[in-house]
Amino acid sequence: MAMSSKETNPIGIVGAGTMGTGIAQVVASAGWPVILFDIEQTLVDQAFVNIQNRLASLVDKGRITLEQANEWQERISTTTALDDLENCDLIIESVVEAFDTKVKVLQSIGDVAPSAIIATNTSSLPVSKLGAESKHADRIIGMHFFNPAPAMQLVEIVRGKDTSKEAIQRATLLAEAWDKTVVLVSDTPGFIVNRISKPFYLESWRIIEDGIASVDMIDETLQSLGEFRIGPFLLTDMIGQDISVASTRSIWERLGRPNRLAPIKKQESLIARGNLGRKTGCGAYAHDDRDNRVPAVIIETQELELSNQLEEAINTFCLEATCISGSMLEKYIFSRVLVGIINEAMWAITEGVASAKDVDTAMKLGMNFPLGPIEWSQRIGLNNVHALLTSLNKTVVDNRFLAPPFDTVSAN
Ligand SMILES: NC(=O)c1ccc[n+]([C@@H]2O[C@H](COP(=O)([O-])OP(=O)(O)OC[C@H]3O[C@@H](n4cnc5c(N)ncnc54)[C@H](O)[C@@H]3O)[C@@H](O)[C@H]2O)c1
Repeated sequence: MAMSSKETNPIGIVGAGTMGTGIAQVVASAGWPVILFDIEQTLVDQAFVNIQNRLASLVDKGRITLEQANEWQERISTTTALDDLENCDLIIESVVEAFDTKVKVLQSIGDVAPSAIIATNTSSLPVSKLGAESKHADRIIGMHFFNPAPAMQLVEIVRGKDTSKEAIQRATLLAEAWDKTVVLVSDTPGFIVNRISKPFYLESWRIIEDGIASVDMIDETLQSLGEFRIGPFLLTDMIGQDISVASTRSIWERLGRPNRLAPIKKQESLIARGNLGRKTGCGAYAHDDRDNRVPAVIIETQELELSNQLEEAINTFCLEATCISGSMLEKYIFSRVLVGIINEAMWAITEGVASAKDVDTAMKLGMNFPLGPIEWSQRIGLNNVHALLTSLNKTVVDNRFLAPPFDTVSAN
């Protein structure tokens, strides 16, 4: 619900790109004054025009009134002078994802605004290290918004090693006051969403590498049996295969190269050929201008051979996990990918990344999953999840379906 303008210090936003402008809209629409900073006048001018255009389109669609659009716009001022952020309570850094640039920017923010809490919207850099290098570690916190920020409900609040309790509390309260749902996550690679969503893509690519099914069949199966909104191949074509691979590599390296999260040669070969997804016209699919697509990854199909034990584990898993019936091949695809996601969630919770509840919330809001992985495992039964992991692990050489020590008690 929109509030009238707050009698409060403004919120500063540094970096007026895709995310910075989206966050400015979120904050202004909740009633807070915003000061939006970028390095050049042309950039802040363009950013303001972009916000105006977005609000105008919301008015056209009847989602907000012209009055609201005007009010929200009036709350946003722009600047190229960092000193103007001096009185801000919270300053959100959303500049390019480059460690050295972020350190410089965070340090300057801390110097001009000595009492502000400083949030970084980094997707992949360690918040504790950014804090230590920029010399304001106690005031630096991660506030990971999702794109587009006004539409995406989730904010991952990332607790750095030296982040103060007060910074966590203030950032959480503010994000909640802006109508966001907050999850608390430790400063670990990929945080919750970008890490636990990895098997959605990686296990699907491995099914391709095993020659078991085509990209369109995997996408359709996960949409029908899993009720995922969109399949992993179309989604990575939209995100960009290059972005997806870079994020996989970074998370895998920083976690100490676990086999579960290892990059996929076939996906990387797309990038070597310049097939980056929809932005280049071709990725996992070849796309035309009218949103039609055909699979562009050719596989040599192998017959699916399952042991009796694996077939039984898949059937039991699917009976509890989905109400939709499917062929043995479809059930195999769905259960192999979903159990990979559940396993990653169990590893992350066991390692103290976040609580089971926050993991579920984050995956539902950040990825539009129909259920959280732990909710799913409770519905299926942890013993059935374990039975499938054990059976699948016998079919691989990299031990990636090994489950962590995880019990139902820690899931609550
Ligand atoms: N785009 C996404 O989907 C997404 C989602 C979540 C988080 N993020 C993170 O948000 C941050 C910004 O991403 P984006 O997509 O908005 O990028 P962007 O390229 O659209 O915008 C970055 C902005 O930062 C400005 N900038 C660069 N150097 C600066 C400096 N020294 N001082 C001030 N401003 C500077 C640029 O001029 C630009 O306007 C990154 O850390 C990114 O990882 C992005």
